[in-house]
Amino acid sequence: MERRKFILEEKDMPTSWYNILPDLPEPLPPVLHPGTGQPITPGDLAPLFPMELIMQEFHPERYIEIPEELQEIYRIWRPTPLFRAYRLEKALDTPAKIFYKFEDVSPAGSHKPNTAIAQAYYNKKEGVKRLTTETGAGQWGSALSMACMFFDIELKVYMVKVSFFQKPYRRIMMETWGATCVPSPSPDTKAGRDMLAQDPDSPGSLGLAISEAVEDAVGRDDTHYSLGSVLNHVLLHQTIIGMEAKKQFEMADCYPDIVVGCVGGGSNFGGLAIPFAQDKINGSHKNTRIIAVEPESCPTLTKGLYAYDFGDVAQMTPLLKMFTLGHTFMPPPVHAGGLRYHGMAPLVTHLVKLGLVDAVAVPQMATFEAGITFARSEGYISAPETNHAIRVGIDEAIKCRESGESKTILIGHSGHGHFDMTAYDNYLAGKLQDYAYPADKVKEALQHLPKV
Ligand SMILES: Cc1ncc(COP(=O)(O)O)c(C=O)c1O
Repeated sequence: MERRKFILEEKDMPTSWYNILPDLPEPLPPVLHPGTGQPITPGDLAPLFPMELIMQEFHPERYIEIPEELQEIYRIWRPTPLFRAYRLEKALDTPAKIFYKFEDVSPAGSHKPNTAIAQAYYNKKEGVKRLTTETGAGQWGSALSMACMFFDIELKVYMVKVSFFQKPYRRIMMETWGATCVPSPSPDTKAGRDMLAQDPDSPGSLGLAISEAVEDAVGRDDTHYSLGSVLNHVLLHQTIIGMEAKKQFEMADCYPDIVVGCVGGGSNFGGLAIPFAQDKINGSHKNTRIIAVEPESCPTLTKGLYAYDFGDVAQMTPLLKMFTLGHTFMPPPVHAGGLRYHGMAPLVTHLVKLGLVDAVAVPQMATFEAGITFARSEGYISAPETNHAIRVGIDEAIKCRESGESKTILIGHSGHGHFDMTAYDNYLAGKLQDYAYPADKVKEALQHLPKV
């Protein structure tokens, strides 16, 4: 019998996260204070984050223990399955072995709760009563809504306007868990009002929604801000994905030649890929190809500049050294709302710079074509973001068909697409379109990079 699922027992779930910082061949460039241009100190971040999360940004140790209270919540849905995609392999007529690590089984439907519950937990421990955040497609907002429900914290979510109207069920999910969700730009903050004055029809962007959420948090003593991606501590919490996957590959008695994940801010990709990058760095699996996939219309890694930039439109966040399309860039309204971000996690940026990770950009239509192939072979309907990873996983499997090689491919299946049916409907009705790379807009946005 061919084994399709590799499922770890609850007792085999990793009890620490993997912190790559001490293993990096070259250290990460420092994060800079937006006012002084000097390296940021833990105290600078204290108005926004609890100290334990801040310390995780700079942590010197390789493994950080997952508190028992968090492990208990993780065990609601973790360990998540690793599937062998026999039916997809057959549909593609490829000798490649395709696996996918399936984060869809979390209550919110994606990888996002892995860090959401950790962030809610550390905020609760510090006595924080209220959190604010941004969300693109709504996966992060819904994950944090659930997490805040577990820890009895009030939450306000600023949801990118185009997604707010494309995906109303995500808002209802957030409200079901007790959070408040408003479309961004909103009239509730100065950053939102300024944008509405400039363009009342602005579709919004993650960078702008971050500005609103940060402004709200900074303006109130009882409130902290929570970020769903980009920062080191977020990627750290997500490493449980790749750590589990490595144990599951031991069960399958193989190891991936290729690891593929989609990148928005970089958290799902980082979570999957960083434990495999560990093996590249320590030499135990030097030749694994790790591929980050992004939208052609928002190609941060493949066309962005490597520079210090703000994480948000209103220039409120610290300065991060990253690939960026410019913090004022408004990406086209692709359905993969979680990938519409101008910047990239400094850690993912660094891994690309070090040559440990490759980047590929793909057009929207091709990602939906891949999503349909996946749904019609494996059955599961994937999030538009996830379809980016599936696209490149399929492309690599097709290359194997042509070369006759039997490579092992791991796809990060970051979430389901059950609230993205309008996007599928448009695709099936022939109404979906590709968006060209808006080179002029990026050129313009790059002129507003901070002088460092
Ligand atoms: C299903 C899914 N995959 C991937 C992403 C991309 O985000 P990140 O790069 O932070 O993982 C998102 C973001 O919302 C998402 O919802």
